[in-house]
Parts: sequence; C-alpha cells; structure tokens
Amino acid sequence: MDREQAQQRIEELAEEIRRHNYHYYVLSRPLISDQQFDRKLEELGRLETEFPEFRFPDSPTLHVGGAITKEFKPVVHRYPMLSLGNTYSEQDVKDFEERIHKLIGEDIEYVCELKFDGVAIGLTYRDGLLVQAVTRGDGIQGDDVTTNVKTIRSIPLRLQGEGYPAEFEIRGEIILPHSSFEALNSLKEEEGEEPFANPRNAASGSLKMMDSAEVAKRKLDCFLYYLQGENLPFTTHYESLQASRSWGFRISDYVVKCRNIDDIFDYINTWDEGRRELPFDIDGVVIKVNSLSKQEQLGYTAKSPRWAIAYKFKSEEASTRLLSVDFQVGRTGTVTPVANLQPVPLAGTVVKRATLHNADIIAALDIRYGDTVFVEKGGEIIPKITGIDLLQRPEGSSPLEFPAVCPECLTALVRREGEAAWFCPNETLCPPQIKGKLEHFISRRAMNIDSLGEGKIELLFDKGLVNSPADLYELSFGQLIGLEKLYKGEGDKKDRLVKFREKTVENILKGIEASKKISFDRVLYALGIRYVGETVAKKLARHFASFDSLRMAEPAELTDVEEIGDKIAQSLATWLQTPSSIKLVESLKSHGVQMALTVTQTARKSNKLDGKTFVVSGVFEKFSRDEIKQAVEDHGGKNVSSVSARTSFLLAGQNMGPEKRRKAESLGVNIITEEEFLNMIC
Ligand code: IVH
Repeated sequence: MDREQAQQRIEELAEEIRRHNYHYYVLSRPLISDQQFDRKLEELGRLETEFPEFRFPDSPTLHVGGAITKEFKPVVHRYPMLSLGNTYSEQDVKDFEERIHKLIGEDIEYVCELKFDGVAIGLTYRDGLLVQAVTRGDGIQGDDVTTNVKTIRSIPLRLQGEGYPAEFEIRGEIILPHSSFEALNSLKEEEGEEPFANPRNAASGSLKMMDSAEVAKRKLDCFLYYLQGENLPFTTHYESLQASRSWGFRISDYVVKCRNIDDIFDYINTWDEGRRELPFDIDGVVIKVNSLSKQEQLGYTAKSPRWAIAYKFKSEEASTRLLSVDFQVGRTGTVTPVANLQPVPLAGTVVKRATLHNADIIAALDIRYGDTVFVEKGGEIIPKITGIDLLQRPEGSSPLEFPAVCPECLTALVRREGEAAWFCPNETLCPPQIKGKLEHFISRRAMNIDSLGEGKIELLFDKGLVNSPADLYELSFGQLIGLEKLYKGEGDKKDRLVKFREKTVENILKGIEASKKISFDRVLYALGIRYVGETVAKKLARHFASFDSLRMAEPAELTDVEEIGDKIAQSLATWLQTPSSIKLVESLKSHGVQMALTVTQTARKSNKLDGKTFVVSGVFEKFSRDEIKQAVEDHGGKNVSSVSARTSFLLAGQNMGPEKRRKAESLGVNIITEEEFLNMIC
C-alpha cells in the first residue's frame, strides 16, 4: 500500500469506527458484529503504526489505550462541581416541589433522571474535540484523568452533527456495568487479589490506573447528564440533553419530563423497582427544573443547586437467622467466611448466603451462632451482614471463632503482614487449592484445555488420577474410559453425572496434546503463581524469554522488569525456590510444554541494541510507548522500569517525570530523544 492509499484508508477507517462506536454505545443499535468491529480497529492500529504521520490526534485507536499517566495533575474546575441535595425522604421531595412552586409560582416542568452510582466526571470539548476530563475532587479542584477517559468507548473523542458550542463542559458519571464488574472481580480473584466491593469503587480505582491500556480492558461506560457553558443555545435542560445525544454523547433513554408531584412519584416508584433490571447500578433518581431561565432564577446554595434534588433509594434490609458459617478455601489458599442464613426475600431475590469477608469483620461485628442478623443489598451484588439484632440474641450464645487450622486439610492458618485474610499455606496438598490450581491451569486464557471443563478435571482429581498439572500429560485412554461419578447438587444445583465416554476421552487427550503448543507466557500464567496475572506473565516472558533464565534471575533483576514491584517479585522468588514448583516445571518441560519463547517469538530485527538496557519514559511523537519498547526488544535491547547505574539509556519523551531525569543525570546515564533512538536502530 502506498502512502496515499494508506492515508485514505486511515481516514476511511477512523470515520467508520467513529460511526460504529456511536451506533453501538450511544444508540445501542450496532450495525456490525463485535469481531468485525475489532478487525477494523486492528487494521487502523496497524496502518497507524506503519504510517504514524497520518494518525489523527483523536484517532479511535486511543480507545485501546497505551499511554501512561505518571501523575494525575490537579485542575481547578472552571465551574465548581457541585453535588445535589440528597434525601431519602418522600416528604423532602414534596417540600422541594412546593418550595419551587412558591418561589416561581406558575406551572413548572420537571425532568426526572436516573441517579447513576459511579464517579462524577467533567469533560471539556473545544472545537468538537475532547480536550480534558477531570474528576470532581473536592468540587473546586479535581484530577486530570484525560488519558484514561479517552479509552472509554462511549465517550466521543470528536463530536458529530452540528450546533455544539465552540467550547463547553459536559458532566456525567463514569460507571462500570455489572457484566464488566463481575468479569473484573473474577479475574482479580483468579490472581489472588482482593476483589472490588462494588462497581463504583471499581470504576473509581480504574480511573486512577497509570496504564491506560489496562483501563481500556475494564470496559467502563459513561452517561452524561448536564451541559455547562455560557450562552448555550437552549431554553430547557431536556433540549440540551437531546442535542448532546445528537453530538454523540451517551444520554440515558430514561429521561422524562414531569408536570407535577404525582408524575415525579410515579417515576421514583417505577425505578425503585425497575433498577434491578438495569445492567448497571443506580442509587436513586434526580429531579431537575427543566427551564434553564428558571434554574437561573432559583440559583444555588453554597453547596448545591436549588433547582434540583436527588432522591436516594433506601438500601433494602432484612433480618434473618444465622444458621452456620462455612470457611471456604480458594485457589490461593485464602479462607473466606460465608454465612448460611435462614432464606429471606430481599430486593427481588431470596438470600441464603452472605459474605462475612474476614476475621476482622467477624470480630468487629461480635457475631455469635444463633444470632439474628441484618442483611443488606446496597451497591454490592453479594449481600452483606451489616449488624446484629441484639434483642434477639439467645442466652449464653457463643462467639463465632475463626478457625486456627484449615477446614480442608487441618494445616495451621497463617496471615501475611498487612493483610486481613488468613490463608492455608499447604499449597501442594490442600484439596481445594489443588483443584483450584488445576481449574486455573486448564482455563481458557491459560492452557485452554476446554475439553476438561464442566467438572471433568474435578473427576480426575477425585479419582486420584491428577494431583498436579504435570499429571495431565501422563494420562492414557485406558485410564480414562468409563470413569464416572455422580455429583450431588447442593441448594439450587441439580445432581450431575460426569461420565467419560469414548468421544469425551478422545477430546480430553486431544486438548491436552494441543496445550503443548501454548506459548510460554500463557504457560507462566497457567502456573497460578500468586500475583502473576496475564499481563505480568507476558512481561516476564518477554523479558526473560525462558523459564531457565527467569529462575536464574537475581531479585533485583525481577523488579527491573516493568510493572513488577516488590510484592510480585517476592511472591515469584518464593515460588521459584519451592521444591514442588521446581519439580512441576521440570516435569512439564519433559512432557513438551513450552517453557521458553520460540525462535519466531524472540526473532530479532537486529542486534544493534544487544546488551543495552533502556528506561522509556514520557509521551512520544511518532510512536506509542509500547511500540517504542517493542522496538527496543526487537533490536536486542532490554526494557527496565527504573533508572539505575546499570541503565544504558533513558529514552525521554514529553512530560517525563523530573525525578527520572535527575537520577539519570546524577548517575551519568545517557539521556536520548525519540529521534536519536530511531537513528540508533535505523
Ligand atoms: S446533576 C449541578 N444528574 O450524583 C448538578 N447528577 O450529589 C449536577 N449524579 O454530583 C449534577 N446521576 O455526581 C446529576 N442524572 C444525574 C446524576 C447525577 C448521578 C451524581 C453526580 C452528583 C451526585 C449527587
């Protein structure tokens, strides 16, 4: 493809992708499949790498992320970011309506909206381009999170249509839909990390991540609800939202105009019930005066507008009896207390179990067997126990004690410094840990042996055939054929017969054989080392290229790898020294599992940077940071995360942290520009 064709194709693709984003995220009416969309985005990304001079500054590939934010700079809001008067009381809503009626007198029109439970954001657009995204902060000053916000696909980087002001700010709420929240938390649990308590916390944590490519993976979303600016060409709030929708913003479909208090209460009641069907959290409704001139007339108190009020739904609570507590042991050995409750209806479902989180929470609640407890379903998806009805406490009740030994294998539990959770250290013999590790090993993103899914691996473990991932590679047809077991369903779950017939066995053996081709980075992830998730595994594999050189690495070399801090390095170093791990790796290797990157994966473009280490920092003109780092590796160099005496070059982009520069200067490390780097490899 020549330059002219490339430029034309880049323009075409960018335009098409923008249009599809709008259809998908704003109108919820996609015109093409997700795969077709991804292919277009990939094509655009490829062309932009090849012809960076034609990349638009607002290219839709920004949604994929890649840029790093080192520091979220404070920004003073041009218009203070006020909150709303909040109430849980219907009387307050009536009073609000009456007060407005008295102040303005005539017929008033209101707009009722959902109150999204997320993180407030202010987006500034100049000449139709997104220029800044700032969090609320204290209302006067927030943090600049523009780079991360640009990864949110429902936020237009360039506006469409016409009539938008040359400069304006639009405010809204960044949320994490339930499906993304659940996916994120199961990933966190898989990696032995503490899950987020609710989608709001997850959204807020995501906005503050340094690597925008990671933010992009979280699949945040954003609803806009308030246009701010001078001399806006509208007379009502409702109109301003409709216009905003036509410019490409995601505006809720559930914005309605109301004429009186009865309409308002209808709306409140509809959503108090209807919120359970929504794919994201709301925590109330917002009622606003529609006319902009009347809004102005009503004005503001010091904290909030007089023309709006937020009615918050009560988080529903029920009381029920605590029957027993299970202490569940997870894949990484963490012991989680789960309460079994006398089933009780709550917020549309029947609650039978609730998490008690950890020993500290049990102690703080002073919970006893036989207690009547209060359960609540607030923002959280899993109900939680919030308190105890002391009036109902039976006499002589005994406190609930956290076990000192593992309920599964009786090993004494231990607690890591600074962590609330107790865990069972018997990694190699504790059944749920072994089973959990096997399940992780075969999972789709690891070794992808899906023919062992749906309880089949459990059967192999229960029959004593497989205790470690390496055992999988020893299995034979004769051992497997005819194996069966009936798994008794508990609670709502039905009984389940797992049986290995001929076809099943063939598929299992085929799946195991195929897994020998899985690349080293995924094998490393599949090993289930605490804190070594997919991203970390990729970085380690790229840096060390083989398991042997990873094993030989000095602790300092581990933390040299980008994004590997002390916590991960420590966990990795311990794992690497454990005899059972060494045995496991040796055995996997002897069965032909990939314990090193292949020649093509490590293929180099040149040896020009052999033996040189680079710290790549800041933002670059022609390439993204990831592309530059890839180039370092392609030419034989190594990337490290912090400047030390061993660093050969600090490759400095714009907005690089001053600390890095100072350190490089004091250690005499060469500081080079993007241009100089390109000269080195060309
Ligand atoms: S209007 C000047 N509308 O709830 C008024 N806020 O304290 C601007 N929120 O600060 C806010 N959904 O963070 C508005 N439909 C909605 C909202 C909403 C959620 C948030 C927002 C606000 C807080 C209320």
